Amino acid sequence: MAIEKKIENLAKLRAESQLGGGEKRIAAQREKGKLTARERISYLLDEGTFEELDPFVTHRSTAFGLGDKQFLGDAVVTGFGKVSGRLVYIFAQDFTIFGGSLSEVVAEKICKAMDLAAKNGAPFIGLNDSGGARIQEGVESLAGYGNIFLRNTLYSGVVPQISAIMGPSAGGAVYSPAITDFIFMVKGTGQMYITGPEVIKAVTGEEVTLEQLGGAMVHASQSGNCHFVAENDHDCLDQVRRLLSYLPQNNMEEAPFVETNDDPNRKDEGLLHILPEDATKAYDVKELIRMLVDNGEFMEVHEHFAANMVTGFARLGGRSVGIVAQQPSVSAGCIDIDASDKAARFVRFLDCFNIPIITLCDVPGYMPGIDQEYGGIIRHGAKLLFAYSEATVPKITVITRKAYGGAYIAMSSKHLRGDINYAWPTAEIAVMGPDGAVNIIHREAIQKSDNPEETRRNLVAEYKEKFANPYVSAARGYIDDVIDPRETRPKLIKALEMLQNKRDSSPPKKHGNIPL
Ligand code: HXC
Repeated sequence: MAIEKKIENLAKLRAESQLGGGEKRIAAQREKGKLTARERISYLLDEGTFEELDPFVTHRSTAFGLGDKQFLGDAVVTGFGKVSGRLVYIFAQDFTIFGGSLSEVVAEKICKAMDLAAKNGAPFIGLNDSGGARIQEGVESLAGYGNIFLRNTLYSGVVPQISAIMGPSAGGAVYSPAITDFIFMVKGTGQMYITGPEVIKAVTGEEVTLEQLGGAMVHASQSGNCHFVAENDHDCLDQVRRLLSYLPQNNMEEAPFVETNDDPNRKDEGLLHILPEDATKAYDVKELIRMLVDNGEFMEVHEHFAANMVTGFARLGGRSVGIVAQQPSVSAGCIDIDASDKAARFVRFLDCFNIPIITLCDVPGYMPGIDQEYGGIIRHGAKLLFAYSEATVPKITVITRKAYGGAYIAMSSKHLRGDINYAWPTAEIAVMGPDGAVNIIHREAIQKSDNPEETRRNLVAEYKEKFANPYVSAARGYIDDVIDPRETRPKLIKALEMLQNKRDSSPPKKHGNIPL
């Protein structure tokens, strides 16, 4: 055959490989409000940058009539391309072919792209839309999942791994995303569950719809499996692009520097008014964060989960940072089980990928309660201590108001290798809040007093005067300086600059044993 003929044949095969499961199934995909696998990839990546791998792979199994149904590329599209000019590797499951189910070769294609991502140090993005293990293939499909989970784990902390759930993600399909760093879910179409409604009804008698069981908002607000919720496919992919802009390509690189026109020396008068006069009153810490960061841009992570702790990405003087802060307007900003899990995982991500941590502390303590104790607040709360202690990236803390008890230690205190620890003059740093403390240490004096209420008030005032301020800590060097709130942004940017070549290490070991 002449070369021209062969090229013609190649073009025909390629065109066939682009068709997925055919027009009818593509129409059904669209009817559900979903883009196809290829449309998703071309929307996410910079125009014309996608290079596909393995478009001619076909499944091997002939069981249950599979031999008669071959699709070029099988149920996943894989390859590499660019996002904002930076290399990424990607897979997009194709629901139009066997419901995007995972065959042996689908897994092989995904693993090949993952291996390339790790070898070449670039983020790996999975666009999930799958009925799970290909039922007809049995154990070969399970082996495929195992091979993917292994790579998710081995490459964790090597390259950023991002999952978008843009259709069903059923059974074993959920566990690869669960090991990755961030999960996006599309409202209405993205669903994750280990066992579906029918199995649940048969086993426990409970009735539940797919959306109630595993929809985006359920996983964003209840289970905490989902970090970002999207309105539709386009919104989801836009958010993935935005997230990538804050991240380095791999664990050996720094996140990209983004020039800003926001003055690094900007002093925001608004910072003087953010805290209410009454220290028991709440405020929105996200307003405070926006006043500090470049152009007020803050990409919140896990917005709907454990809202008493706020985590997210921003830039300061052009440098990417991760922010961890209490939210005093939710549960007074107490650290509970979920808040600790949320912040600890985020801190560990930042530490994996050389992103400095800015901690804003206003915490009355760990959350009291029987539920919390029974639920394991000791074990879960310990994660935050562990995560901050082991982190060697630059760690800068600002105590704005309360810093009480174990929660003071946890929030990147000097004692856990905090590099720079600032406090506002409004900071209160002590073992516990004035009311609780006075009730314990002066119980007898209050009881015996002729006017217990007045005595208590006086003792609280005395305690506040003595302990509820930043100067006891500053006198010991636990706080590096007490700063004018308006100077917070310039102080943070100068500290980041100072720490940019920070080197720190921990004793040699295989790995630590974080309480899980
Ligand atoms: C093979 C599958 C499939 C699967 C779907 N299909 N899931 N084929 N293996 N796992 C096929 C369907 O037969 C159908 O083919 C086509 O994909 C579209 O599926 P529909 O059911 O018509 O679509 P929809 O109504 O949108 O429902 C989607 C779904 C449902 C909710 C995902 O298909 C479903 O419940 N699938 C099974 C989910 C599941 O239990 N998977 C196994 C999990 S166990 P035709 O030709 O009829 O159009 C598992 C173990 C791994 O994953 C453990 C590793 C740790």
